[in-house]
This record gives sequence, structure tokens and C-alpha cells, in this order.
Amino acid sequence: MSQATNQSWGGRFSEPTDAFVERFTASVNFDQRLARQDIQGSIAHATMLARVGVLTDDERDAIINGLSEIKGEIERDEFEWSVPLEDVHMNIEARLTDKIGITGKKLHTGRSRNDQVATDIRLFMRDAIDVIEAELVRLREGMIELADREADTIMPGFTHLQTAQPVTFGHHLLAWQEMVARDHERLLDCRKRINVMPLGAAALAGTTYPIDRHVTAELLGFERPAENSLDAVSDRDFAIEFTSFASILLMHLSRMSEELVLWTSAQFDFIDLPDRFCTGSSIMPQKKNSDVPELVRGKTGRIYGHLMSLLTLMKSQPLAYNKDNQEDKEPLFDAVDTVRDCLKAFADMVPAIEPKKASMFEAARKGFSTATDLADYLVRKGVAFRDAHEIVGQSVAYGLRTEKDLSEMTLDELKQFSATIEQDVFEVLTLEGSVAARNHIGGTAPDQVRAAAQRAREALATLKGGSL
Ligand code: ARG
Repeated sequence: MSQATNQSWGGRFSEPTDAFVERFTASVNFDQRLARQDIQGSIAHATMLARVGVLTDDERDAIINGLSEIKGEIERDEFEWSVPLEDVHMNIEARLTDKIGITGKKLHTGRSRNDQVATDIRLFMRDAIDVIEAELVRLREGMIELADREADTIMPGFTHLQTAQPVTFGHHLLAWQEMVARDHERLLDCRKRINVMPLGAAALAGTTYPIDRHVTAELLGFERPAENSLDAVSDRDFAIEFTSFASILLMHLSRMSEELVLWTSAQFDFIDLPDRFCTGSSIMPQKKNSDVPELVRGKTGRIYGHLMSLLTLMKSQPLAYNKDNQEDKEPLFDAVDTVRDCLKAFADMVPAIEPKKASMFEAARKGFSTATDLADYLVRKGVAFRDAHEIVGQSVAYGLRTEKDLSEMTLDELKQFSATIEQDVFEVLTLEGSVAARNHIGGTAPDQVRAAAQRAREALATLKGGSL
């Protein structure tokens, strides 16, 4: 056997791996990110092997001490990663054997890299989800508190990006909050299916050693061992679920980003974002650009890309493990980093939004946003809704000609279109009256917004920390 043949599996080979193939098939440059979880899994595996009598207690202790030292070497950046050793698993195992000798070679008893890597990714994703959840919770809290503060602030509500009816800014923020609340549920739901342990499936069929998978599962904090060894080593649908969650979340953040970008423009002028979330232009000195929301909007594309990569990666893979699966890591790692950073950006930024209340109010006053209120008023006075619609349409046309909002017309002017209109009409034509009148669950009235914020706080408190 050639010296250069890989020590872990080179026994049946008669020539060394081609140098290019070695680099092409290696994953250590990116999967070294799983080192912490790999060591965590190996310690649990060795502990279980000793408990069932496959390793002696001394062997177990030597393995655990060796792995703990290696963990320190990696954390201090002293570990030398080797591409010929292919991946994180064989790098760590080779180092262990360097350190403790032949006992290091016993660690892989009853295990394969196939169940090892599947376990590592699940441990990694569980940790990542907990960090992401914390940012999501912070974002939801920020949205709820700002909504509560801005329950009385009036702005135009839009359909087709045309002024439709007045709403409160708090109500708009709570609409955002509902979107991310569903994302939160999706994340925790995905975590439940991630928290199942592949270890013990070995290469694909299980192992002949008297392993106790319940012990390993408990040591690693998994809900239970995976039911089927073939499925355990090949399943990556949890990665697709996570990137689906991430895609929907980024789609939501991208919509909010678009609104933030519009609102900070001179044309809308609804809000200010503190300078720390913005950048300037190297040529136009007056510019303050909303780069953070623009970038979040832009990052949505790469997340959709990762979802497509993973769906396509898994399509047509026969059972059980195939080398294709090595390609799951880079999209997943990037999705985790991107989601965490985008959520952090939003969680920092949302509480810092400074509404320009006068400007929002002025915008809501334009665009005949109380036209529906006038129609509803006429209906209450006995006019049929279709006729009321026509009457208000004529009033709006008059307003456009004379450049007057409905609330700026005199009673006589309004009476030209319907004799039913009386002095009390002005109560419904004000923006405050309009929003206060939508006083039911889910409506935009300030009292409803405050009550909804309170319910949102309670819903968040029950969901937080995975208690779905
Ligand atoms: N680096 C591999 C991966 O990421 C580890 C499992 C390799 N297993 C194998 N039979 N080649 O999937």
C-alpha cells in the first residue's frame, strides 16, 4: 500500500488518490465549522460505548480527555487542518490517534461518518436555531413596543400603493409583527424535526455492537433516536425546511425593507432612520441612503437560491447516503449566517424608527382617504351602498377640480351631491374619527391596537424558547 493512500479507508486501494480528486472531494475547508458538534457527538458516543461495555472506562476517559484537548486546540486556532484527511471527522480522529495512540482508533466502533455527519449538522442547526430565535424574539418585542407607542399615530393605508384609508402606524407595525410571529412558529416547528438523533444508524443498516441509542440521544439532548437507519443517514429535509423558513422570513423582511426605503424617501417622508443605519454617497453630499433595509431586501435572493440548491440536491437521491449530501453544508451555513445578521439588523433598527407624525398625518389627509367613511355615513342615513358610492365618487371628482379634501368642503358644497348630508358628517370626515370607528378585533382603532399589542406580548411569552 502506498504511503500516500488515505489511512482511514486506504486498505483496499492500490494507488493514491489523484491530487485533484483529493481536493475536489474534500470538505474540510468548510465542514471544520462542525468541529464543536463533532467532538460533542464523539464524547457522547464514547460514553455510551463504555456504558454498554464496548470500551473500558479507561479507554473512554482517554478518548474524552484527548477530544477535550483537541477542542482547545481548535478554539485557540492551533489545530492544523489537513485537506488529505478530507473532512472534519477524519481530521479530528487522526489528531486523537496522534495524541492517545491506538485507543483513538476505537472511537469509530459502531459508527460511520454517515451517521456522524448527519448528527453533527443536526446539533449545529439546533444551536443555530436557538441564536436565531433569540433575535426573532428581540425583533418581535421591538415591533410590539413601537406599535404600542404609536397606537394613535395616523398614516395613510395603501392598496395598490394608492392612498386607501387612514390607519394607525401602530396597526401597520402589528401587521409586520403578525408576519414574523408566524415565522417564529415555523422555526420552532422545524426545530422539533431537527431534534432527532441519527447516531447508531452507522453507514446505513445499523451496527452489530450492543449500542444503546437512548443513552446517546439523552446525552446529546435529542428528543429520541431516529426510527429508521436508512432514513437517518440520508434525510436532509430538515435543511430544506430551515431554508423554507428562511425564505419566507426574508420575503417578509424584504417587504418591510421596501416600505422603510419608501418611507425614508423625500417623497414619502414618513420616518427617519438614525444615521447609524444609513450611509452616504461619495459624490452627492446631500444623500442619506437606507442601506441596511436595502441590503436585507437584496439578501433575500441568496436565501431563495439556497432553498433551490437544497431541493435540487435532494431530488432523485436513492437511499441511503450519497456523497451529494456533502453539498448541504455551504448553503445551510450561509443561510444561518444571513438570517441571523438580517434579524439582528432589523431587531436593532425597528425600535430606532422615528416616525414623522405630522408628515404622515398630512399624507393621510390627502388622497380622499375618508371617502369610504362618507359612503358608510350615507348608508347609515338610509342610502343604498351603491348609490352612496356614486355620490361620494362625485364629491371626490369635485374635490379634485377644486383642490379640496372632503373635510375641507362646506356643508352646502357637500349637499350638492346628497341632501341627506348634515352637519354631523364632519365627525366622520376627520382622520381621528375614521380610525376610531374601526373598533373591532383586528381593526385599526387606537384602543384596538393597544389591546392587540398586549395580546401579542402574551402570545410571544408563551411561544418563546420552543414551547410550541
Ligand atoms: N464529508 C462527508 C459529508 O459531508 C462526510 C460523510 C462521508 N461519508 C462517506 N461515506 N463518504 O457528507
